[in-house]
Amino acid sequence: MSFSDQPRLGVCYYPEHWPEKQWAEDARAMVDLGLSLVRIGEFAWSEIEPDPGRYEWDWLTRAVETLSHAGLKIILGTPTATPPKWLIDAYPDILARDRDGRARRFGSRRHYCFSSERYRLETARIVEAMAARFGAHDAVVAWQTDNEYGCHETIRSWSAGAEAAFRVWLEDRYQSIEALNAAWGGVFWSQRYRSFREVDLPNLTVTEPNPSHVMDFYRFSSDQALSYNRLQADILRRLSPDREIIHNFMGFFHEFDHFAMGADIDIASWDSYPLGFLDIGPYDDDDRQRYLRNGHPDFAAFHHDLYRACSRASAVMEQQPGPVNWARHNPAPAPGMVRLWTEEAFAHGAAFVSYFRWRQAPFAQEQMHAGLLRRDGAPAPGYEEARDAADALPGGAAKTNAPVALIFDYEAQWLFEIQPQGAAWDYVKIVLEWYGALRRLGFDIDIAPPGRKLSEYKLVVAPSLPFVSEAAMAALAAADCEIILGPRSGSKTASVQVPQTLAPGALQSLIDLKVTHSESFPPTHRESVDFANQQVTCGVWLDHVETKLTPEAATRDGAGVLFRSGSVSLLTSVPDQDFLMAVFEAASARAALEVTKLPRDVRTRRRGSVRHAFNYGPEPVAIDGAAHPIPPAGTARLES
Ligand code: GAL
Repeated sequence: MSFSDQPRLGVCYYPEHWPEKQWAEDARAMVDLGLSLVRIGEFAWSEIEPDPGRYEWDWLTRAVETLSHAGLKIILGTPTATPPKWLIDAYPDILARDRDGRARRFGSRRHYCFSSERYRLETARIVEAMAARFGAHDAVVAWQTDNEYGCHETIRSWSAGAEAAFRVWLEDRYQSIEALNAAWGGVFWSQRYRSFREVDLPNLTVTEPNPSHVMDFYRFSSDQALSYNRLQADILRRLSPDREIIHNFMGFFHEFDHFAMGADIDIASWDSYPLGFLDIGPYDDDDRQRYLRNGHPDFAAFHHDLYRACSRASAVMEQQPGPVNWARHNPAPAPGMVRLWTEEAFAHGAAFVSYFRWRQAPFAQEQMHAGLLRRDGAPAPGYEEARDAADALPGGAAKTNAPVALIFDYEAQWLFEIQPQGAAWDYVKIVLEWYGALRRLGFDIDIAPPGRKLSEYKLVVAPSLPFVSEAAMAALAAADCEIILGPRSGSKTASVQVPQTLAPGALQSLIDLKVTHSESFPPTHRESVDFANQQVTCGVWLDHVETKLTPEAATRDGAGVLFRSGSVSLLTSVPDQDFLMAVFEAASARAALEVTKLPRDVRTRRRGSVRHAFNYGPEPVAIDGAAHPIPPAGTARLES
């Protein structure tokens, strides 16, 4: 039995920000509100170790005791996202370097380089010291490693340490320099290397660096973050057995493979800021306006489904409770949304939802960020909604068997960053469009990395799968269900070359066609298509194919945009929402999969035996199965 087997609410708390005499009262108030979890410690290094080797454990011990005494369970954060000034001054090589080769400076956070050997030693030291001190405490039920790997674009560092480690990584991958030259096409532009020692990092080149070189650097950088996290996880497992290991991922961070890191931890939690991300995410102005105070209806759900796929369990470590401080514009959530986001997280299987933060900070970078309490300690608007959410905590099993899987690939995102070949091509936006169209048809969705077993699904979609590994191919071949592949699938070998048989490469064994050439378009260019008695459009990209198959849909000029061979379909362009929904509906009919079309603002998700509905729109919406129209920012349990 783990603390995470039962849905819980929690909060992020910084005892070091407040006078000690306030802690007991804060803890009592948390419990009164219906919270049972508290996360602390993740940025407290300079308070724990103010001078080299001089630890100040007493305050943290008293904080742990006070919170525990009130009945709260504690998630303790390792403080490694914020190495203190004395450590940086002693070892400036800890600092990461940006793409222009400039050292990051002390004065915010995440200023370390994953490849710094010194930082790994210092990390091991502080994590061991903390785990030895608190690892057996009854109230400490879990650890959070570091904080948001990748925040502020910090996975990739162009430092001397990274360069040395990259060379070792390359040697391990290729074994011989001839193999690297062949994989990267070293013969092009005189890029042949004579030894691994000659390979630099792929920055500061005159024009674009070799895409194979950059791809390997991105893979290496992801692996560095993974091994750094594993260093912490191994220590925590050794010194604090039977505690869950958690990391808090973020929305729209793609610089490392979260599926791979998820395998090294127990709970993949994430930090859900629906309004911040509406403002900076891949949304159009219409959606930004419509969902200004609600967040996009698919944003949080997508990340719940993504992170559920990463580890044994998922959760929300930081839930937005009011305006944040870091987006371009920072509106307040519409009344009801904090509660809705919380309920939706549980509907998607979250083990817990923890609000960020208890009380608004009076000082420093985040003084404009709301908490559950105002800076003066009075309740802020999110507070009562947290209470409502506590009163509505779900029970019972969270397990849901989704009939649809969507394949998401971090390497695909890296490739398209490196070689977009069209400024309007946005992999994540395309993924969200496919995900949203499936949800508009009422489906519960699992997200899967390439290569995961797919045999339990009736419909599998891959919005774009440029690399097709042997494992990915085997899983698709064994899927035995409707499969829909998007443009640019199978278009690259693992080392970023054009496949000998042309795209879609290995996927030609599922659908017999060949991409002879591709075009990309500005966002204003749309191609009209007739499909399923509708006039729809597609754009952004067009793969031209050679095949004996008759297209199921074509542009006015006769270019096929949808091909099908039995249960496998392939789209060669980026369809609009109506087109996508029509393609998915047709595939669902073939798969005998029932579709429930939902209005624009409403989404549903089943948790155990209950289907929940969420209204993200500004108007009440009547839907089948709901006794009454669902009010704006309202939720309903559907009869079915
Ligand atoms: C998260 C971060 C927190 C806090 C929060 C503010 O990205 O983990 O420490 O900065 O954002 O919204």
